[in-house]
Amino acid sequence: MDYAGLELVYSRDFITSQVKRLAAEINRDYREKEIILVGILKGSFIFLSDLARELAIPAKIDFVQLASYGSRSTSSGIVEMRKDITLAVQGKDVLIVEDIVDSGYSLEFLYQKLLSRQPRSLKTCVFLDKKAARVIPFEANYVGIVVEDRFLVGYGLDYDEKYRNLAGIYSIK
Ligand code: IMP
Ligand code: MG
Repeated sequence: MDYAGLELVYSRDFITSQVKRLAAEINRDYREKEIILVGILKGSFIFLSDLARELAIPAKIDFVQLASYGSRSTSSGIVEMRKDITLAVQGKDVLIVEDIVDSGYSLEFLYQKLLSRQPRSLKTCVFLDKKAARVIPFEANYVGIVVEDRFLVGYGLDYDEKYRNLAGIYSIK
């Protein structure tokens, strides 16, 4: 797909190879277990669907939607849950699945929220990690690609709700 103003950063093939690597790690770590994947809407929907189909373990799937206040550059750190999961997670092995971690506020918020429901285990899997942009300390358990601090779109990521459907990951020129 050709879009003026976008520059390809990661091809579909490279993305696929990284998703397969992550799935292999998860399959190994959760062998003999059943997992609940909790995707964060909307950005994670493509990554989660690719990852889920590479898993060799039983998986249930649910979604949350979060809202954070302030613009990206002046993030207030206030995060709210707009849509909760419907599955019960107490005593379960839960893996949060997110497209990208930036300041860390969103994932930290959801992590604490789900932790309070007493899952047996709670881990996080992010496809992209803007490590250098972190405002609060947050380390994901599974990381696809560590990326520079620049704005990316495609593979679920949007700019003003556009570009989520691109198969590759692009930067905006
Ligand atoms: P955090 O709470 O700052 O870690 O924000 C994570 C959320 O910000 C992600 O779920 C994305 O929705 C959004 N985000 C952060 N960086 C980017 C980007 O480069 N492109 C698109 N969305 C981004
Ligand atoms: Mg998101």
